Amino acid sequence: MNFTLRDGKTLATAVVALFTLALAACSGAPALRGEEGPPIEVAPAVAGAPWEAALIPAPVHARLTPANVFPLRPRTAIHVKPATPEMHRLAGFLGNLLPTASGSARVVSDLASASAGEPGINLVIDPALDTLGGEGYRLSIASDRIVAAAAHPAGLFYAIQTLRQLLPPEAEGRATNSAIPILTGEVVDKPRFQWRGAMLDVSRHFLKPADVKRYVDHMALYKLNRLHLHLSDDQGWRIEIKSWPNLTAHGGSTAVGGGAGGFYTQAEYADIVEYARARYITVVPEIDMPGHTNAALASYPALNCDDRSPALYTGIRVGFSSLCVARESTYRFVDDVVREIAALTPGPWFHMGGDEVKTLSPAQYATFVERVQSIVRAHGKEMIGWDEVGATRLHPTTIVQYWRPNATARDAISQGNRFILSPADKVYLDMKYDSTTALGLKWAGYIEVRTAYDWDPATRIAGVRESSIVGIEAPLWSETLETIADFEHLAFPRLAAVAEVAWSPQQRRAWDDFRARLAAHGPRLRALGINFYRSPQVPWM
Ligand code: ACM
Repeated sequence: MNFTLRDGKTLATAVVALFTLALAACSGAPALRGEEGPPIEVAPAVAGAPWEAALIPAPVHARLTPANVFPLRPRTAIHVKPATPEMHRLAGFLGNLLPTASGSARVVSDLASASAGEPGINLVIDPALDTLGGEGYRLSIASDRIVAAAAHPAGLFYAIQTLRQLLPPEAEGRATNSAIPILTGEVVDKPRFQWRGAMLDVSRHFLKPADVKRYVDHMALYKLNRLHLHLSDDQGWRIEIKSWPNLTAHGGSTAVGGGAGGFYTQAEYADIVEYARARYITVVPEIDMPGHTNAALASYPALNCDDRSPALYTGIRVGFSSLCVARESTYRFVDDVVREIAALTPGPWFHMGGDEVKTLSPAQYATFVERVQSIVRAHGKEMIGWDEVGATRLHPTTIVQYWRPNATARDAISQGNRFILSPADKVYLDMKYDSTTALGLKWAGYIEVRTAYDWDPATRIAGVRESSIVGIEAPLWSETLETIADFEHLAFPRLAAVAEVAWSPQQRRAWDDFRARLAAHGPRLRALGINFYRSPQVPWM
């Protein structure tokens, strides 16, 4: 079996051919069983086997054997070891992704001996795999059993996502009475970066909790693990603060263009946090300050130096608003907001924004950022700020989120702080794909899929080495986006590209290989109902 996979058409043909052969093998036809195809060692140089070729992000190592398959049946059981509630939850999660016989649930049971294993799918915690870190895993697929093993549950979650991508897209969660063939072989994998993030701007336009959860589901498919929620801006305050109720009652009442706005009650926010946590995604709340605060200023006159509230703002200018940083009462306000949000947020971070402040002196700005940093730390969180905060005195644990394409990171580097990379000219998902894109902005340039994919974080900022980069995050600003379909159109497929930048080793990444794998994700994105952009750079299947 000799697949040439250098262009999309050949890949498409190969995938269909291999799947047909695998189906034949499952149904007992001799075509594949008798054939001893050599194992396919997957490397970018050979462009991968078709099923491996459809894995995004590319794993560190994958070796899949087309000669044999594991027949996934409607009643294939899932076994866990150890039998903890979290392992049962993971098994349930996997069970929900796999097709079942209609009307039946998948059996989950405890595994007595990990080494012996049992026919079926075994989810196993194996401390020996600690060398793969907190999120690495090994997925071994033989013709009678699948063993997903990891030192930590997060690794098993990612093994499950890999297994999910080895199933045909039509299989997602459906009922079927026939067996589905899964190629045998092994994947050993771990992420390049610990921070693999996506940001949603729910301030310029509000997204309902159900839509945020939908985005979380799709992040999980691509092994992303941080959801940064931009919860306040000039146009809307989107999270209930019980000690300052007018922030949402008034400040959350509209949006860009004058629409209805909205906000999350504390219970709704906590529910989103828990939903994400169950998918190994940590929510990072952002309250942008001292600028980007018109919604707060409109809600409480005392936050303004002249005690006069401005009107609500529904345009898309930036840089005109600021809290009154000279007033002590402003810091009591910040303390209340940080305290209430920190109490609802189990993750270790609080993002204070800090970007695009055009009405304060550098000294006023620095004093404010440093005081907020103390408040954030007093509530047990580590601070994150957009790259402008690099010009202030930072605590060593504070993380700087690099976004301005031409920003120098010099100040933050000299203080030794670490970075999240969100260069606007690569990963700002609100930038248009090209001049024909109806949605989005273009101040940082057009970002086609290749532009979002084809860069190396380690060489992006002069003086910032890989060891100072906690990871990559793709913000999605929503000035021009109203519905989840709008958000998805700008996010997909670029979010998948960014996920691979953040997960896969640089030497495993190549554009031609990626675009072929992405093409094979077209049917999956369609099956999930995602309103993705059909980039002409990708030979979609
Ligand atoms: C930003 O885009 N103003 C962080």
